[in-house]
Amino acid sequence: MTTAIYPGSFDPITNGHVCIIESGLVAFDRIIVAVLSNPRKSALFTVNERIEMIRESVGKTSDKDEVRRSRVEVDSFEGLLVDYCNQKGARVVLRGLRAVADFEYELQMANMNRHLEPNIETMFIMANDANFYVSSNLVKEAAKLGGEVSRLVPPSVGPKLYAKLGR
Ligand code: PNS
Repeated sequence: MTTAIYPGSFDPITNGHVCIIESGLVAFDRIIVAVLSNPRKSALFTVNERIEMIRESVGKTSDKDEVRRSRVEVDSFEGLLVDYCNQKGARVVLRGLRAVADFEYELQMANMNRHLEPNIETMFIMANDANFYVSSNLVKEAAKLGGEVSRLVPPSVGPKLYAKLGR
């Protein structure tokens, strides 16, 4: 069984993340969505809130979705990603790639992870065109300034985002 770890901040999960999870399920039997729990990095949502939103966003009611949901786990991790991968017995880190701007950051992380643990490979999935420019940071910024972003995030996330921002 091939397991991939899909790590990130997910603050909050966007449609872009959901798309990467769905595409990842074509290639991997199981995906563990791993939310970074980093007390030094300030986040809008708590780790538990982020986990809950991810769970709500993956799979809904149909049989097909149930099967899909059973292949996706949501967890949090602290410390080094490669240590977490080893702990879970996973040899693949899954990351999404959007515009060129992501490339350098992703290259650095993939190389650092390879340096730390040569047995773990990072694999990338290209974001689809609808989500090419969607990021959690831009979604938060636009929402803070009064923008309408609910079509860029899963249905349950929009109301939580606006509530968190006092809108
Ligand atoms: O969604 P993000 O914020 O781009 O995700 C970044 C993440 C969580 C993948 C990255 O910060 C990470 O893996 N942090 C864990 C610490 C670590 O292993 N650092 C060394 C490799 S860069």
